[in-house]
Amino acid sequence: IKRIGVLTGGGDAPGLNAVIRAVVKTAIREYGLSVVGFLNGFGGLIKNQARELSEKDVVGILPRGGTILGTTNRDNPFHYPVIKGGKKEFVDVSDRIFENVSIHGVDALVIIGGDGSLAIAKELYAKGLPVVGVPKTIDNDLLATDQTFGFDTALTTATEALDKLHTTAESHHRVMVLEVMGRYAGWIALAAGVAGGADVILIPEIPYDIKKVIDQINQREMQGKKFSIVVVAEGARPVGGEMVVHKRVEDSFDPIRLGGIGNVVSQQVEEATGKETRVTVLGHLQRGGSPSAYDRILATRYGTGAVRLLMEKRFGEMVCLQGATISSVPLEEAAGKIRQVPLNSDLLLSARQLGICLGD
Ligand code: F6P
Repeated sequence: IKRIGVLTGGGDAPGLNAVIRAVVKTAIREYGLSVVGFLNGFGGLIKNQARELSEKDVVGILPRGGTILGTTNRDNPFHYPVIKGGKKEFVDVSDRIFENVSIHGVDALVIIGGDGSLAIAKELYAKGLPVVGVPKTIDNDLLATDQTFGFDTALTTATEALDKLHTTAESHHRVMVLEVMGRYAGWIALAAGVAGGADVILIPEIPYDIKKVIDQINQREMQGKKFSIVVVAEGARPVGGEMVVHKRVEDSFDPIRLGGIGNVVSQQVEEATGKETRVTVLGHLQRGGSPSAYDRILATRYGTGAVRLLMEKRFGEMVCLQGATISSVPLEEAAGKIRQVPLNSDLLLSARQLGICLGD
């Protein structure tokens, strides 16, 4: 292997640049390789948008959010939209990826992405492209790794938000509802709720009963605790209800939220308790900004680990964290598979034992 490529797919997550930097530095310094950055995710690779990456290009990017590789997006080369006869159709354009990789003389590719991008990486590998994956998402919902980079920063942002909501909740004797991201998993809500001292945490893994939430708030009131903090994962849903997190439209996410579960919970709580209730939807603040120290380190370990994997020709694998150690697993163990919070997780147990209401 003489020359490698790197690309970032899917949504952004704090730490993308830290991975890119680690890949570039390790490839050039340790192995004497050259590196091409494919721009704008898989869409850019399909359109042959690329730039050479030298050590100079990665100076100062470690603390920067976003990605230096243009934009990230959710384009899928196996299901790519084209307009035919005025109508949108989806076609397989993955051959273009092979052509463009070959035009740039790239021997192997590092693909940084979440479940969707890793599923594409797996398909490209099955078709003959030498790839390795790096797990990324603030949601922390990837199977086969104990943690994704980006999660710790999102968690820190959500915890800081809860600290701020606490003081204003206390000042007005209000109920504050914070809706956090996480898609189909409750990792951010659970961890931030525990770190931020929430009274109620609602996660997709445990369908909630709104009566339990109301009871918790009323009980606190009777104990003289005049305010309450509720954390709601965007994917939380009532018993027998549906998730309103995001509606998949064709192959992309529809950013229009169908009501927002935080609003629903907030209105129900205000009506039932008579307490003034306010909702905050934290949204994309969780994806932006500088990565935490933990994420910078994890992303760096993933980046260096990915280049080691390539050099060992362990294509079709993904770097992962197992306990305290960087390891690797076949892409098929991670690609397209979601990891929710296990119901027997000790953090859930701790939350219960602290008296936090989980809605069940
Ligand atoms: O997967 C990361 C994530 O931020 C989710 O938490 C959230 O549901 C989704 O992406 C939002 O997607 P978009 O940025 O396309 O609105």
